[in-house]
Amino acid sequence: MNILILGSGAREHVLAWKLTQSKKAGRIFAGPGNAGTAAAGTNLAIDPCRFGQVRDAVLANDIGMVIAGPEAPLVAGIHDYFLSDPLLKNIPLIGPCRSAARLEGSKDFAKAFLMRHGIPTSRYRTFNRATAHEVPEFLATLRSPYVIKADGLAAGKGVLIIDDINEAAAEVNAILDGKFDSAGEKVVVEQFLKGIELSAFILTDGKSWKLLPEAKDYKRAGSGDTGLNTGGMGAVSPVPFAGKEFMDKVRDRIIEPTMRGLAEEGIVYTGFLFFGLMNVDGDPYVIEYNVRMGDPEAEVVIPRIKSDLLDLLEGVAEGNLSERSLETDSRFVTTVMLVSGGYPGSYKNGMEITGLEKTSDCAVFHAGTKAEGERLLTSGGRVLAVSSWGKSLNEALEGSYSNAAQISFAGMYYRKDIGFDLK
Ligand code: AMP
Ligand code: GLY
Repeated sequence: MNILILGSGAREHVLAWKLTQSKKAGRIFAGPGNAGTAAAGTNLAIDPCRFGQVRDAVLANDIGMVIAGPEAPLVAGIHDYFLSDPLLKNIPLIGPCRSAARLEGSKDFAKAFLMRHGIPTSRYRTFNRATAHEVPEFLATLRSPYVIKADGLAAGKGVLIIDDINEAAAEVNAILDGKFDSAGEKVVVEQFLKGIELSAFILTDGKSWKLLPEAKDYKRAGSGDTGLNTGGMGAVSPVPFAGKEFMDKVRDRIIEPTMRGLAEEGIVYTGFLFFGLMNVDGDPYVIEYNVRMGDPEAEVVIPRIKSDLLDLLEGVAEGNLSERSLETDSRFVTTVMLVSGGYPGSYKNGMEITGLEKTSDCAVFHAGTKAEGERLLTSGGRVLAVSSWGKSLNEALEGSYSNAAQISFAGMYYRKDIGFDLK
């Protein structure tokens, strides 16, 4: 079966890498992909949010399954588009339909869903222009710092954490006034949760679900979790503090009520579901849902799946996931993201990347890369994810770091302390 992976990051490269190991897989395509997916398969110059382009690519290349990497096409309804098209409706699209993708596409929807189903999350209120005058009064009921979220998708920039109450109120108004365009027509204001974050993932066919390995992502640009928020600077799996007791709470208090809640509301959810969690003194709270795999979490979670991923995805497509087996690798996998100097602010593209041939016993997943003849060039903020395996967290990290040191490009930067808080 030929497979098309939508997206262009390291998450899409690790999916392509894993699927090339499946005996059932035919040709692997990525759209638009990067230099890594081009080496693992074939890139197609399409925009995942232009559904007509996706349709043409699927029909032209005899694609039998489409996997949505990022959230944007899912939130825009690509699954529904496939179901409504006579030629596409029998081609499974891995990822939820639009109504289910609201779990990520609308923070107000997600918070209201969590509340309706009694799932632990922080106290909140949603505001629009008509209720904006009540913001100061609500903020006064919360403790600093204040968490402010644009309701819709804002390219990862829509969450602000602000210490000062007056500044927080001003930010809510700035978002309602269009700072994030239509993503900010509504704003969620919520209580800050103090704890340690981790990400849990399931794969579901809408009836049954399988827990994938959990991961911890390092979102801040600087060492010691300082500096600006990024898409993610590295990740580790497993997460040592997420032992059986904690993960049982995640299952009982969060995953099962979420699946029951979706069923009660008549929402069929299929694909990957990502639970962004905060461990507050041993109890899990939901910070957010994402309707896809995480990036860079995928670069440590997918390598820990020993089973055939395509077999599992077929289980999702055919509604018989419970009959498929999921075996995981007990070893640690860590990834360190090599980024362009200046990221997440402005940075230069087109820097030549060298040294990949000197890496060993690791997998280097491409994010912002582009092949130009024989040369490999940077073409984004996050450039490469260096994933390594180890019997211990330290052994895996040593692999990621010794290999990262072999690679270079002008301005290359990476955090030297991934996993620092878990040792
Ligand atoms: P999100 O875009 O929803 O992932 O939020 C970005 C980041 O903001 C999260 O990964 C957390 O680090 C932080 N964050 C969001 N909501 C809260 C909260 N209620 N308490 C503490 N941190 C939060
Ligand atoms: N690494 C966080 C995310 O994928 O949203």
